[in-house]
Amino acid sequence: MENSVNYGSVCNQLEALTQGVPHKIANLANASALLWQELPEINWAGFYILEEKTLVLGPFQGKPACIEIPVGRGVCGTAVQENATQLVEDVHLFPGHIACDSASRSEIVVPIRDGGKVWGVLDLDSPHLARFTREDQAGLEMFVKVLEKTLFG
Ligand code: SME
Repeated sequence: MENSVNYGSVCNQLEALTQGVPHKIANLANASALLWQELPEINWAGFYILEEKTLVLGPFQGKPACIEIPVGRGVCGTAVQENATQLVEDVHLFPGHIACDSASRSEIVVPIRDGGKVWGVLDLDSPHLARFTREDQAGLEMFVKVLEKTLFG
């Protein structure tokens, strides 16, 4: 497949980058840079961190983005409310989608959990319709598992 990514290798690189690094922001920054480097056809890759009932912009790559997203709003807020990955083939068809960049056409958001409770989200956008597949979802969920180990032991 044209866009297929070797997520095993990406996860190994994340482990190598974050091993022994106790700084959450530094690890999130490098994780977003790694995804930006390794995934084709994306226009945003980064994190929102939950503060009470609001997601706050964290480290990312791409254009400047919205700073606060209430839980339950947009694709990110829905991922938190439902505590589940959101795979959106066409953002124009997602009720309440928040367009930080009008070029974005598809999106995937994966919850990051600390002891089962949502701590934040990984968010990726693409300018192409249906850019993210079930394989991407499985790979990115594996990526988040590695990240959770790094962030919360
Ligand atoms: N599209 C997201 C907002 C964040 S930006 O994509 C970076 C949403 O609907 O939650």
